[in-house]
Amino acid sequence: MSHRISVRNAGVDDVEAIYTLLQPFVVKNIILARDRDNIFQHLQEFLVADYDGELCGVVAVHIYGENLAEVRSLVVSPAHQKHGIGRLLVEGCEQWLAALGVARVFALTYVTGFFERMGYAVVSRESLPHKVWTVCVHCTRFADCDEVAVEKRLSDAPIKPMRILPIIEINEA
Ligand SMILES: CC(C)(COP(=O)(O)OP(=O)(O)OC[C@H]1O[C@@H](n2cnc3c(N)ncnc32)[C@H](O)[C@@H]1OP(=O)(O)O)[C@@H](O)C(=O)NCCC(=O)NCCS
Repeated sequence: MSHRISVRNAGVDDVEAIYTLLQPFVVKNIILARDRDNIFQHLQEFLVADYDGELCGVVAVHIYGENLAEVRSLVVSPAHQKHGIGRLLVEGCEQWLAALGVARVFALTYVTGFFERMGYAVVSRESLPHKVWTVCVHCTRFADCDEVAVEKRLSDAPIKPMRILPIIEINEA
């Protein structure tokens, strides 16, 4: 059976599904909490993965000064993991950011191995500017945070014009 997966910018109709995707990982303290208002207010930062018309993944980017952006709120629904959707979402962010001219992207994560597969390298948390932590101060784990900082340079990557995001088809065995 053939399935259609597309990655696209989020719209207001996606807010509830984005909230539902994120919430289980918020409860486990893997993702920073976002309520529906917060998702609406930052909707322009989100990409979503659509699997046969159903949202199965989400990611957001946040651009700081100093030519630096963060990939955050990355989730693929457990039922759809390990099918390359996380990769599509991260690559979608990178193409988007590269087209904007952003040179460096980082993430704070517990899934270091995944980001290493995406070409990111572990860096010291101290190498990130202070403003990066302004959201983290609201996290219950802020005082004893053990997330790992990973980073990738985008400036050497070819800059592709970005608005048309990848569509792939997968075949289930
Ligand atoms: C991390 C996550 C987004 C990965 O999504 P996914 O769709 O399963 O990942 P993909 O199938 O695109 O994997 C791409 C590659 O990374 C590898 N990979 C995936 N998850 C991995 C993990 N936890 N550790 C190490 N490698 C991993 C895959 O094997 C694949 O490798 P390949 O290129 O050799 O084939 C997903 O597991 C998830 O939502 N986790 C819970 C929330 C979370 O931790 N989010 C990250 C917050 S920063």
